[in-house]
Amino acid sequence: MAKLRIISGIQPTGKLHLGNYLGSLKHFVELQDSGKYDCFFFIADLHSLTENYNPQQKQADVLEVIATFLALGLDPKKSTLFLQSAIPAHTQLAWIFNTLTPMGELERMTQYKDKASRQKNNVNVGLFTYPVLMAADILIYKPFGIPVGQDQIQHVELTRAIARKFNTKYGELFPEPKELLTPVPKVMSLLEPEKKMSKSLGDQHVINLTDEPDVIKKKLARAVTATEGGSENPGVENLLTILEQFDAEKSNAFWKQEADREIRYSEVKAVLTDTLDKAFATFRKEYARLLAHPKECAKVLHTGNIAAAKVATATLAEALTKVGLQE
Ligand code: TRP
Repeated sequence: MAKLRIISGIQPTGKLHLGNYLGSLKHFVELQDSGKYDCFFFIADLHSLTENYNPQQKQADVLEVIATFLALGLDPKKSTLFLQSAIPAHTQLAWIFNTLTPMGELERMTQYKDKASRQKNNVNVGLFTYPVLMAADILIYKPFGIPVGQDQIQHVELTRAIARKFNTKYGELFPEPKELLTPVPKVMSLLEPEKKMSKSLGDQHVINLTDEPDVIKKKLARAVTATEGGSENPGVENLLTILEQFDAEKSNAFWKQEADREIRYSEVKAVLTDTLDKAFATFRKEYARLLAHPKECAKVLHTGNIAAAKVATATLAEALTKVGLQE
């Protein structure tokens, strides 16, 4: 039986952290290893141009993502790993989709509104049509599903709306893919546990996958645990949620101690430091090896680009015919 195709992308915007891992990368590896899917995972470098960035840094950012993919266990023999900008068919299809997408639908996108308010000096048109390029990234592979976090659902809904609109106007071509939601709660900032863990808050808010044990220890030592005056304790909840992903038994034991008011936060932090150190020890070694061998990473992408381009150009040709740009 043919495997169900799935596709997802990650932006190269610097070091990947625990939120990226639990929110998507871990799920990618599990989906690949389930053997049920024909997996396409890519680096969304075109999308990353919509944020403020340093051009001199971009190649290094791309290398970091592919090295992270490989060091976490994404395997080019099992999955197609590729670079978005190497497949111009994405942007060509995105143009066609631009002509089908009402301004009003994009104006409603919460990620656009969020980002626009955070980068007031750079509210570029790319940021606005970001979800349209994302729809093209997806539909050009005619997938069954899209592994994403909760924050991308609105974009996936728009993707389905664009597929329907295209099919109605020009004839059936695209499926309506489903989101495959990552089965984990959000990972929050260490210092402001009401906010999602994000690099943009600052390095002390996040645990990078490459952080050495001494760094993890220092960051966790400063992590907020008790919030003054309230019984709600989002900081502790966050640390125990993270721990649960690696060691559910220990996490449960701490939850019980928390309920009995016997918990010692210093102990939670010590256990979590140790757990994360062990969980990523192999990753850190392999990641360092890959960064020292950029040609090996480039080769993986090159092979993936060829495989992805084959599918993408075939779909683009069908779309061009349907819209009347080619016979
Ligand atoms: N918008 C996604 C994010 O920020 C990245 C992305 C771009 C993507 N194109 C995609 C994800 C296509 C899934 C499918 O996380």
